Amino acid sequence: MDIRLRGVSKYYPMGRAVVPALRHVDLEVPSGQFVLIRGRSGSGKSTLLHLIAAMDRPTAGEIVVGPWKLDRLSVQEQARYRRHTVGIVFQHFHLIPSMSALGNVELPLLLDGWSPRERRRRAEMLLEWMGLWDRRTHRPVELSGGEQQRVAIARALALDPPLLLADEPTGNLDSQTASEILALIGRIHRESGKTVLLVTHDVQQAAPFTRRLIRLQDGEIVEDVLV
Ligand SMILES: Nc1ncnc2c1ncn2[C@@H]1O[C@H](COP(=O)(O)OP(=O)(O)OP(=O)(O)O)[C@@H](O)[C@H]1O
Ligand SMILES: [Mg+2]
Repeated sequence: MDIRLRGVSKYYPMGRAVVPALRHVDLEVPSGQFVLIRGRSGSGKSTLLHLIAAMDRPTAGEIVVGPWKLDRLSVQEQARYRRHTVGIVFQHFHLIPSMSALGNVELPLLLDGWSPRERRRRAEMLLEWMGLWDRRTHRPVELSGGEQQRVAIARALALDPPLLLADEPTGNLDSQTASEILALIGRIHRESGKTVLLVTHDVQQAAPFTRRLIRLQDGEIVEDVLV
């Protein structure tokens, strides 16, 4: 699904001042592209993903994702957009501690009204795809960091969104595990053709999967190259 940002700015009010998190960002990502986004802490990487995920609204500018004009969405449309169009993965996996891997992956399906049988089938298929078949009944505390992240990725893919956003998904992992997670995201991209926006500092390790490198600095795109 194509993504288009035109003149997008985001300012956060902080007391009497405003913090510019993004400034006049223009960006077009064609459907199916794998984009790596990097930049120093505070450069606006998470803000960019949050806006594209419709978790927040820009202060100015417009964002269009496929048929969705994100600034025009009603509350219901926003919920539908987020559920069906965007899968998002974070540095801290945000799994529900009391639920098994299966339970966590089934959650978006439950919220979307799937029957117990269909939910279980879909969650099992996703966990198998993530190489977690024999961990499917484990709760998050019974999983390694890399396994927890794979569960979180499976959950993000539950409703087969065309867009996968990952915000430093390897930030909490050792370098070996980080490589495995990046390779997994690369494989998902290859096998599913989803559009992937990956925020990471592991540029070397992600390089084999990436077509495009974007660097943010002080809320602006200062580098945008095809590789
Ligand atoms: N909710 C908020 N309220 C106020 N300022 C914010 C808020 N969220 C982000 N900011 C500010 O906006 C700027 C961009 O933040 P953002 O989280 O997008 O950076 P980042 O590139 O993801 O950094 P990191 O690598 O540390 O995750 C920073 O200066 C940050 O302090
Ligand atoms: Mg961030």
